[in-house]
Amino acid sequence: MKTMKAILINQYGTPDVFYFGEIETPKIKGDEILVKVFGSSVNPVDAGIRRGLLKSFVRLKLPAVLGVDVSGKVVETGRAVSRFKVGDNVYAFLGIHRNGGYGEFAAIPQSFAALIPDNLNITEAGTVPGVGMTVYEAFTVHAPVKKGMLVLINGASGGVGTYAIQVAKYFGAEVTAVCSTERIDLAKQLGAEKIIDYKKQNILNTTERYDVILNCVRGIGFRQLKKLLKPGGKSIVIADNPMKFPLMKLSNLFSSRKTIPFIVKTEGKILEGLSKLIQSGKIKPVIEKIYPWKDLSQAHKHMESGKIAGKIGIKIN
Ligand SMILES: NC(=O)c1ccc[n+]([C@@H]2O[C@H](COP(=O)([O-])OP(=O)(O)OC[C@H]3O[C@@H](n4cnc5c(N)ncnc54)[C@H](OP(=O)(O)O)[C@@H]3O)[C@@H](O)[C@H]2O)c1
Repeated sequence: MKTMKAILINQYGTPDVFYFGEIETPKIKGDEILVKVFGSSVNPVDAGIRRGLLKSFVRLKLPAVLGVDVSGKVVETGRAVSRFKVGDNVYAFLGIHRNGGYGEFAAIPQSFAALIPDNLNITEAGTVPGVGMTVYEAFTVHAPVKKGMLVLINGASGGVGTYAIQVAKYFGAEVTAVCSTERIDLAKQLGAEKIIDYKKQNILNTTERYDVILNCVRGIGFRQLKKLLKPGGKSIVIADNPMKFPLMKLSNLFSSRKTIPFIVKTEGKILEGLSKLIQSGKIKPVIEKIYPWKDLSQAHKHMESGKIAGKIGIKIN
């Protein structure tokens, strides 16, 4: 049996449950690639899985390797793999059912992966997939952003928000970013024309009306956000409890203003779309810090402190 090094959990809990261990190297199926991992990241969902909050959706076989984001080099391809070859630099969002970014190797279905753009470092690329794909899917599939639209991003300085400002700008929107006082400069640098400092102003009191809202923050009612939309506008919800999604969709029957909740797909095609924007040089990852994988517990603690601009990356190996 081939084994690899990995950061594992053998129980749910605080960031201190992580430990270095040895585990069987994943075996690939016909449509999968084996990737030597260089980078991963810490997302709120990684912390949720670690704490056992998603136990009813994700049945982990313990000990388990977490990490929904992955970047690295292809070292083996399954018989049916046509999109990649050994030596390619790839990245992917593995989703909550697979995880696996915090190990030396990861098996990835070819349909999940995309080539890393040349202008992106292979380790830093591990910070991109989950958050970047969420924004690309939101602004191209669920609420296509077009030139001249007014877009509001609530939670604009976090992992998702820092892409959201840039991608909305790329598509020609006028962006209002909602962030804390400390992050105003960052939001402006990324292209936001207008800022709402949530520490000083309640966004629900704004008199502006928007074509698209992306809400990255828990605790704000979807009906309240809808009131900030123009007729025909769309409010995208990513941070709310999925149990509420049917109610949100039902409410759309009675209004031209729509609430669109969604969970990001693990599709490499979506990541390819984002990759083109990154390749153009107009979209850049915002990374607060890259931790070596031996400091994964610290990285999770840092992310859970809520005091991050952009992303926390993990250097694997
Ligand atoms: N549905 C999906 O598929 C999907 C995909 C990705 C993420 N998500 C979810 O989306 C949420 C955001 O993810 P993320 O990776 O961007 O998280 P994150 O990096 O932790 O960013 C969240 C940001 O929210 C800001 N914030 C906190 N309180 C706020 C408030 N009252 N008003 C406005 N902004 C506030 C913080 O910025 P300051 O520093 O300025 O306070 C923080 O940077 C998480 O709940 C995550 O689980 C869902």
